[in-house]
Amino acid sequence: MELPEDYKEGKKDFLGAKIDLRKRPFIPREETSYWVSLAIEEIKKDSTCLDLFSGSGCIGLAVLKNIDNSYCDFGEKEDLFLEQVKINLELNKIDNHRYSLIKTDVFSNINKKYDFILANPPYVALSRINEVGDDVKEFEPHVALFSGFDGLEIIKEFLSKAMLFLKDKGVIFMEFDEKQLKDIEKIIKNNYSKYEFFKDQFDKYRFIRIEK
Ligand SMILES: C[S@@+](CC[C@H](N)C(=O)[O-])C[C@H]1O[C@@H](n2cnc3c(N)ncnc32)[C@H](O)[C@@H]1O
Repeated sequence: MELPEDYKEGKKDFLGAKIDLRKRPFIPREETSYWVSLAIEEIKKDSTCLDLFSGSGCIGLAVLKNIDNSYCDFGEKEDLFLEQVKINLELNKIDNHRYSLIKTDVFSNINKKYDFILANPPYVALSRINEVGDDVKEFEPHVALFSGFDGLEIIKEFLSKAMLFLKDKGVIFMEFDEKQLKDIEKIIKNNYSKYEFFKDQFDKYRFIRIEK
């Protein structure tokens, strides 16, 4: 099995941000850059954001690079990937007043409210492990991929609490797998009234936008 090209290169561009990958975080995907570019069109200058499940930090870095005077906290469970985010913040010369790094299990250590929460949680169902590419399984961190038998464990926890961490009129963007749309809709209906599902550039339902 060959090491993925992006790990060989050790870096990748993500919406104008330089992303170092030497600590082997989850490799940023095109589908993610698609919805993050749409989120960026909506995020106004001076907004506060949380990039939860930050991995390499690509999502929050794209916000900080593209939106003047924006602020972003990075929430991640793994120390190694928080180190990777720090490397990437320095690589992109982001002023240290514009962010904090937070070691957290979903929202366990988050204690602020934000204008935007941007989340790409682990969402692959263990029941579908055979559909995951061999190179992904061999080289990418399993903590970034899998979330229980149905892939919804972390999404459920995230959606049940996210509203508490949003300012009034705050907005959530969350990535998921299209096979989860109906289950996610059931969870959402109990907690939120304004939401919409969107497709990615490959015509697959891939992300949801929720308003408080
Ligand atoms: C799919 S990756 C997303 C990485 C990056 N945001 C991106 O879009 O490329 C999910 C990330 O969530 C982290 N993670 C997994 N479980 C977590 C939890 N319970 N709380 C916080 N972070 C978690 C993983 O370590 C991984 O870095």
